[in-house]
Amino acid sequence: MFGSKVKNIALPFDLFDIHCHIVPGVDDGAETLDDSMALIDAEYRDGVRTIILTPHFRMRMFETREQAVRDAYALLRDAVADKYPDMTLYLGCELHEHGEMVEHIRRREQLLMAGTDFVLVEFSGLDEKSLIKERLYTLVSNGYSPIIAHMERYENVRSDFDFIEYVISLGVRIQLNADAIIGSLGGKQKKICERLLDSGAVSFIGSDCHDMTSRPPRLGECASYLAKRYGMGLVKELMHDNPQKIIKGKL
Ligand SMILES: [Fe+2]
Repeated sequence: MFGSKVKNIALPFDLFDIHCHIVPGVDDGAETLDDSMALIDAEYRDGVRTIILTPHFRMRMFETREQAVRDAYALLRDAVADKYPDMTLYLGCELHEHGEMVEHIRRREQLLMAGTDFVLVEFSGLDEKSLIKERLYTLVSNGYSPIIAHMERYENVRSDFDFIEYVISLGVRIQLNADAIIGSLGGKQKKICERLLDSGAVSFIGSDCHDMTSRPPRLGECASYLAKRYGMGLVKELMHDNPQKIIKGKL
């Protein structure tokens, strides 16, 4: 891992996580309920009180059955309600793009974020701009509100601000990962995140946590870093106010 740990500061509001792999046994995130609870403990210590859980759905890689996801989610929800009654969970999904996303979502509402029209959509790192544009346009024109997951990863669009401005004008929103922002993934990713944040293009930050060793949740650290660099107002907007609007169904 790169970078030094940023000391967490006290926040005058609680945080949301809108992108994480904490549901046990459904993707490459938490394997057991104990693994899930270790991640929940870390999120709680960071000041997170609302989480949209987003297991992967990716054709030929992560195709966990809908009922299996719901069962694992219910198990986690009960355990969290016992230990942290002031923490609220919702079910969402990180949907890897494919050519029939609209039909897929219509068949399986679980692919949406907390039952709203928001869709957290993931692309591959080298996907062409034209493909990304087409997929986003299709979602928007069918009434969905795409959120691009970890925008800092997509080499063909992450620094193309004409493209970014265009998709935002369609209603698309952009999410960055906390570990990339604070520099845990190296200086290049950090710089890309900085440019995106400086431009005002970013609406959300998620932990994208998978486990407590290689990809732990680091939202507290990220909030402290952002507060120092941009001020507490931006932290509140990206890590509390905008996520809260997802749950209310309108951004
Ligand atoms: Fe993810």
